[in-house]
Amino acid sequence: MATVKKVSAIKNSPQHLLGIQNLSIIEAKRILTEAKSFIKLNRGSSKKLDILRGKTQINLFFEPSTRTQSSFDLAGKRLGADVMTMNMGNSALKKGETLIDTAMTLNAMHPDIIVIRHQDSGAPNLLSQKVNCTVINAGDGRREHPTQALLDALTIINRKGNIEGLKIAICGDILHSRVARSNIYLMNMLGAEVNVIAPKTLMPKGIDNLGVKSFTDMKKGLDGCDIVMMLRLQNERMQGSFLPSKREYYEFFGLTPEKIKFAKKDTLLMHPGPMNRGVEIDTKLADDINVSLVKEQVELGVAVRMACLKLYCK
Ligand code: NCD
Repeated sequence: MATVKKVSAIKNSPQHLLGIQNLSIIEAKRILTEAKSFIKLNRGSSKKLDILRGKTQINLFFEPSTRTQSSFDLAGKRLGADVMTMNMGNSALKKGETLIDTAMTLNAMHPDIIVIRHQDSGAPNLLSQKVNCTVINAGDGRREHPTQALLDALTIINRKGNIEGLKIAICGDILHSRVARSNIYLMNMLGAEVNVIAPKTLMPKGIDNLGVKSFTDMKKGLDGCDIVMMLRLQNERMQGSFLPSKREYYEFFGLTPEKIKFAKKDTLLMHPGPMNRGVEIDTKLADDINVSLVKEQVELGVAVRMACLKLYCK
């Protein structure tokens, strides 16, 4: 078993990680510093620690997930926790049980941490009021996805050294994206300038009040950017027609080798996944290791989630 110094949970901080909006810059930096120490461990041959030995972590995923669910699973196991991932498709919810009844049932089994992904904005906040363990938000509706923003920040810091002073473009379905919202809060907090780019129908009203510049034109929005974050069209959250066609969307908002030239010469490309190749991104560009940080984002996601579990679990 590998060893690591014993560090206490974040002091004087809330017990739950529900979003970036209510996170202090001190907490955000503490998580990022802690996560850095796990990158090396995860690349080594002995990855197991006993920091959370004796603790029980329940992952409750009400929406499909590949990256987030598997990395929370691995993160808990690498810290020595007993991890149970519940497939909510098979749960009593199918029999009409409410989220709160499910939460009370699980709470009676004395978990120490519940990681929740839910289609309703605010579900993790509600849960945190009903249980007496740590709650970590793994994505709620279109509201927040704090650990995604934190892993994006760590990936940028790993490559560029710092976030302060960078110009970051977030491009695509801003309206329905919790990843966009959490990244806007975090990148602003860490001193970046943020541009958002989307067709008018996918741009939330009042977005400029979040401290970003908004563009409906890729050329203008990407100008001078160090980082380009692409987002998937969140079709599952769309009711009605937001776009004429996917082909037209790709033509105007898909990131291609031609359009990425509007950004800085050494710009780097990010995407939270899952990618829809040929819809928001050119397939060769997505795999170009000189430009794309997509695999690094997935790798560092485990380190960030280990840091969150360690720091928030009391
Ligand atoms: C994102 C999500 O679920 O919000 N994916 C992820 O967590 N890696 C983005 C998306 O689904 O498009």
